[in-house]
Amino acid sequence: MAQHPSILLKNIKQPGQHTLSGYESRGGYSTIRKVLKMEPAKVTDEVKTSGLRGRGGAGFGCGVKWGFIPKGNTKPVYLINNADESEPGTFKDRVLLELDPHLVIEGMLICAWAVQSNWSCIYIRGEYGYPYTRIKAAVDEAYAKGYLGDNIFGTGFKHHMVVHRGAGAYICGEETALLNSLEGKKGQPRLKPPFFPAAIGLYGCPTIVNNTETLAALPWILENGGKAYAAIGTEKSTGTKLISASGHINKPGVYEIALGYPLLQFIEDECGGIRGGKKLKAVIPGGSSMPVLRADELAGVNIDYESLVKAGSHLGSGGFMVMDETTDMVEVALNVAHFYAHESCGQCTPCREGGHWIEKIFRRIAHGDGLGGDVQLVESICGQVAGHTICAFGEALSWPAQAFIRKFPDEFKHKIGDALVGIRSKRESLNFEYEGAH
Ligand SMILES: Cc1cc2nc3c(=O)[nH]c(=O)nc-3n(C[C@H](O)[C@H](O)[C@H](O)COP(=O)(O)O)c2cc1C
Repeated sequence: MAQHPSILLKNIKQPGQHTLSGYESRGGYSTIRKVLKMEPAKVTDEVKTSGLRGRGGAGFGCGVKWGFIPKGNTKPVYLINNADESEPGTFKDRVLLELDPHLVIEGMLICAWAVQSNWSCIYIRGEYGYPYTRIKAAVDEAYAKGYLGDNIFGTGFKHHMVVHRGAGAYICGEETALLNSLEGKKGQPRLKPPFFPAAIGLYGCPTIVNNTETLAALPWILENGGKAYAAIGTEKSTGTKLISASGHINKPGVYEIALGYPLLQFIEDECGGIRGGKKLKAVIPGGSSMPVLRADELAGVNIDYESLVKAGSHLGSGGFMVMDETTDMVEVALNVAHFYAHESCGQCTPCREGGHWIEKIFRRIAHGDGLGGDVQLVESICGQVAGHTICAFGEALSWPAQAFIRKFPDEFKHKIGDALVGIRSKRESLNFEYEGAH
């Protein structure tokens, strides 16, 4: 097994790590004390040097995004920790929130100082009951110790933090839907531009939205320096990434790997190989909204932003779903399509209608009622949804559907073929009965 630098999961198995005393006993909150003495702009520079990219899915440069706050801004600056984590196959933020919540808080405070924010919010997925109690207890402890409040660490800097539970909608992970939901409106994405809430966000004020994992990487970066972080991984995909590994593997779980790690080696060495000695059939590498890759496409592919794009997919949220040779890809396509049809917020017609249409077609194919031309119809619907919606949900529902039919055409043809044979034989028997009546 390869030795990966442990930045995010280093202490999660230590006793009492979720408590403030446990966290501090291992050096916790020492970095923020130093950071609060730095020039805020220098903190942003260090994060830019690290090359840290957002871990929520889009992979946008973290320090670059912070730099989008308008110069000379006089409005309050808000910071949102996006802990909505609803992408199927993704369960890594949960581990941080549950097992090392003070690491998350320290990361948020570093960001807050860099962007001079006095108010932050942890927007946590509604279904995350236990992670909620852990992060809420940690926030309460930090308040009690003076690490949050009007005068944090006795420095005169004010920072207040609230934990807000979502109501169970996947779309509220999209940052502008999240902001609407926080403002008490319908959780529906906002029109772009502006492309980033850094300029106009919560209540019209500059707002930084970062994923939990992104924020949790900050204490290490500021402690060890941006260059040290950039030295891990590849040139453009720096640092480590949490991978939520699930499916037909021997050891499902959350792994921290240096970006650039070979994908097949990850399955063999870290995940313990395919369950029951079966053959690998396919992998979805970045959560269910990312295109599936066939086993024969995986040789030489590494787990990083560039390599996965070159292979025809994306790193996304790092939700790594492994399927063995027994998997029925039509059923998988239907399952994924059902999720996106159900979770569309309904604001944009192509997404609201297209999602259900794709699901309906996959369902009839799976149930042996597919029609000739169904695969082409799915292609056509996907083409009319992706790129035609306010947010990237349009891509999230189209990309996987397209990939399943393109990568496994025979499985779809086979089921549709069976259905057509079924229709023919039904017709033949009807004809026979009809003729027999004469
Ligand atoms: C439909 C949809 C769902 C999303 N869900 C999440 C989510 O659950 N968690 C998350 O961090 N980002 C999610 N994102 C991405 C956010 O909009 C945003 O890019 C991210 O929180 C920025 O943080 P980062 O730069 O640290 O990745 C989602 C995006 C879309 C289009």
